[in-house]
Amino acid sequence: MSRQALMSDPVCLIENDAANQLVINKEALQILTSITEPLVVVAIVGKYRTGKSYLMNNLAGRKKGFPLGSCIQSKTKGIWMWCVPHPLKVGHVLVLLDTEGLGDVEKGDSKNDAWIFCLAVLLSSNLVFNSLGTIDQRAMEDLHYVTELTKRIRLQASQKDGLNILECKRVFPSFTWCVRDFTLDLIYDGKEITEDEYLMISLKCKEEDPRSKDPQNKKKIEDYNLPRRCILQYFHSHKCFTFATPASSKKLRNLENLTNDELDPDFVAQSESFCSYFFKSGSVKNLPGAIAVNGRMLGSLAVSYVEAIKSGAVPCMENAVVALAESENTQAVKDAVTKYEAEMNSHVKKFPTQTELEFFQLHLECEKMAVKLFLARSFKDDKQKHQCDLKEKLDRAKERFSKMNEDASIRFCEKLLDELGQTLRKNISGNYYSKPGGHKMFLEEKMKIMETYDRKPGRGIKALKVQQEFLASIKDIEITIRNADQSLTEKEKEIAAEKAKAEAVRKEREIAEENFKRLEEEREQEKKRYEEHMDTLIKKMEDDRKKIIIENQQAIERIQKEAADMRREEIDKIIRNIPKPPEPPKSKCVIL
Ligand SMILES: *[C@@H]1O[C@H](CO)[C@@H](O)[C@H](O)[C@H]1NC(C)=O
Ligand SMILES: *[C@@H]1O[C@H](CO)[C@@H](O)[C@H](O)[C@H]1NC(C)=O
Repeated sequence: MSRQALMSDPVCLIENDAANQLVINKEALQILTSITEPLVVVAIVGKYRTGKSYLMNNLAGRKKGFPLGSCIQSKTKGIWMWCVPHPLKVGHVLVLLDTEGLGDVEKGDSKNDAWIFCLAVLLSSNLVFNSLGTIDQRAMEDLHYVTELTKRIRLQASQKDGLNILECKRVFPSFTWCVRDFTLDLIYDGKEITEDEYLMISLKCKEEDPRSKDPQNKKKIEDYNLPRRCILQYFHSHKCFTFATPASSKKLRNLENLTNDELDPDFVAQSESFCSYFFKSGSVKNLPGAIAVNGRMLGSLAVSYVEAIKSGAVPCMENAVVALAESENTQAVKDAVTKYEAEMNSHVKKFPTQTELEFFQLHLECEKMAVKLFLARSFKDDKQKHQCDLKEKLDRAKERFSKMNEDASIRFCEKLLDELGQTLRKNISGNYYSKPGGHKMFLEEKMKIMETYDRKPGRGIKALKVQQEFLASIKDIEITIRNADQSLTEKEKEIAAEKAKAEAVRKEREIAEENFKRLEEEREQEKKRYEEHMDTLIKKMEDDRKKIIIENQQAIERIQKEAADMRREEIDKIIRNIPKPPEPPKSKCVIL
């Protein structure tokens, strides 16, 4: 949280530069990248000089920040961003996006205005439209961009004919209309109405008179209905706030320096209820599939969308999400492997482990942490491609650590035998055993060395192997000493040779048995590990599935509640066509 808590002022996130190109600001991107918490994103749109910034500053809990009224010229056209800790939702960050200069010819060409509006829709989870006076046709015209959304945004890559209403209700922001300098009484048909009712009445579509043959009239009604239908069908949770004029026009110029006492009390109360609505009920930014978006992800999405627009394409949410999932999953694999290596490195001082099993258990412990980290970050890894990749990389890392463990054991055992065999070696080269009875003395010394060796703790998993190699290295000398020992009869020599051979065979068998036991144990552990991973994975998939079901349910409820002008059959058709959430995979395709 430190970074965004330190964000003392808004920065430009997407700039409409002098060449009339949309450009992502690196500094803003860096700030987003440092935010790992989920976000509530509130974007405000509307004509310039309608008091948008005042509301945004209020949400940030500040008087100043987004510049107000008089100093507005200094601000670049585009989208400005301010990230602050969420005042109510612990562990969330409130991201405020202020669109700047929509419809303002002084700030250059309006060619990109519709794109700036689209970006506000795509990046936010709550869209606020700010207008002056009343909700009338003129205000509706300032919001004409909504009628272009269907041409300018694709939700699915395969989308053909316009925006899918269910998808919109699922992924588009909530909609709030702020009417500033509002002077009407909220009365309709002689009855008092709420602000929300005022909005819904204003958004009501006009019925076409079926008897009318006038095409002009038909067009007029369609023009009237289109923006209203778009607002109703694309967005959800329609909400309205009306605001009194904040202060006398003389004082207004100095708005940011006025205390609440100097402002109209109604205006102050209205601003408070506006903020409290977003603090309590502001939607969290999600991607389709109820995937919570953090700052880093929002930054990537912004880059994807701006790139698409610059290349002349229509930004597509599905494509952006696929690209995002790819980069997030790749990073998730990297993070998980790094975690595994760091955890294993902390065990390296325990190498060599007493047994193979002990090593294997250390590995499992670290692998579990790595997988947990991976699953926490990865999403939409539908074909388990990244899971496979992670498994491969972890297997390779495990091999490396296994080799380190073996090497530590070999080093330890070789050094130990080197020390224990000093006298034996010295006496061999001093020909001490080349005499009658020398063979017996040689065997006694060999026995002593082996007994000391066997009792020594900490030799690790290669103890037998190194011992065998040691014995093999003195085998020829043993034969030479035996053959040269004149105190032995031929018969005794034969028996001694048999014994030496039997000993070698016994060692071989011991090693083979140990290997076999190790494999058995590993297989056992592997099975346990597999079952455990399956449990974790199936749980994650079940959770994801549940989230999608809830998301579907919410989208359906939103349609049923608010798409008042839609016919019953239309609604039923949309609901019938809801795609089923994916089934958890059969165990076969799970590889972790
Ligand atoms: C607010 O006050 C500061 C210093 O007191 C002044 O510099 C600034 O111009 C004032 N703002 C407006 C909008 O008058
Ligand atoms: C090694 O040789 C020395 C004489 O050089 C002898 O005193 C000693 O007992 C021998 N040790 C063994 C273990 O054979």
